[in-house]
Amino acid sequence: MQVKKAIILAGGYGTRLSPMTLITNKHLLPIYNKPMIYYPLSTCMLGGIKNYLLISNDKQIYFFKKLFGDGSRLGIKISYKVQKSPLGLPQAISLGNKFINNEPVCINLGDHILFGSGLSDILTRSFSNFYNSKIFIQKTKKPSSYGVINFTKSGSPIKIVEKPKKPKSNFIVTGLYLYTGDVINKIKKLKKSNRNEYEITDLNNIYLKEKKLDYEDLGRGIAWFDAGEPERILEISNFISLIENKQGQMIGCIEEIALRNKFITKRQFLDNIKFYRNSSYADYLKTLI
Ligand code: TTP
Repeated sequence: MQVKKAIILAGGYGTRLSPMTLITNKHLLPIYNKPMIYYPLSTCMLGGIKNYLLISNDKQIYFFKKLFGDGSRLGIKISYKVQKSPLGLPQAISLGNKFINNEPVCINLGDHILFGSGLSDILTRSFSNFYNSKIFIQKTKKPSSYGVINFTKSGSPIKIVEKPKKPKSNFIVTGLYLYTGDVINKIKKLKKSNRNEYEITDLNNIYLKEKKLDYEDLGRGIAWFDAGEPERILEISNFISLIENKQGQMIGCIEEIALRNKFITKRQFLDNIKFYRNSSYADYLKTLI
């Protein structure tokens, strides 16, 4: 089966990024030279997905619409949904009930960045050979701030533990998930956690218990960054600026991916250049044709 749609979660409180997030949405903050949201969108586009639901809060959706509209400038379809109060990721996903329509769906937490050679192969393979729900995991030095995977002695995942004080492995869940069309039924089984939110870890543990959750280690070749804290934003921005300026190639350039994947024609691409007016971003786009 092919995963043809994705939900990008761009709501939440963004508490850790206050005071910036008192006036704007985390996903609109710059990671080097473009809004954070460009990166998760580019990840899904790289995997070939053309149908999107973007979820955010009512005050900020206007800005996402300003950036992407209905998606046609990128040859994709984007619809929007307001999450009135951030009651957790599964609750945000459940707002996409109609959009999911019982079909496989990719869920992307809008505040992380994946980058590396081979990423597009991993994504297109996973999205086009979909059988089971799947989490993408990665080894990290400091796992205790994330969802950590506990494995059996023979190496099968048995449980995911959110922010454990004593992590039992170094493997963590990144912000990219593939779920079967019945994900909404599983979400209905969830109860609120101590922090009064529905937790994606509980959802994944339901799938794990039923032995219906695959995992894929993104491996060393892929860099994964969580952009939820000020230090991370600075680090990632520096990293991306370094790579882009050394290699002369942009990371997270949604128009470039749209052109390469033939989502848009050259004519549409030229219109995108006009959209960015006189900017270094537009100058980069000009180098691609
Ligand atoms: P988190 O990083 O878990 O939460 P947050 O963004 O509110 O930040 P903080 O912990 O600093 O308060 O959220 C992960 C992603 O999911 C992020 O992109 C925001 C999004 N999100 C929603 O869309 N709806 C929600 O109800 C929550 C909690 C998060």
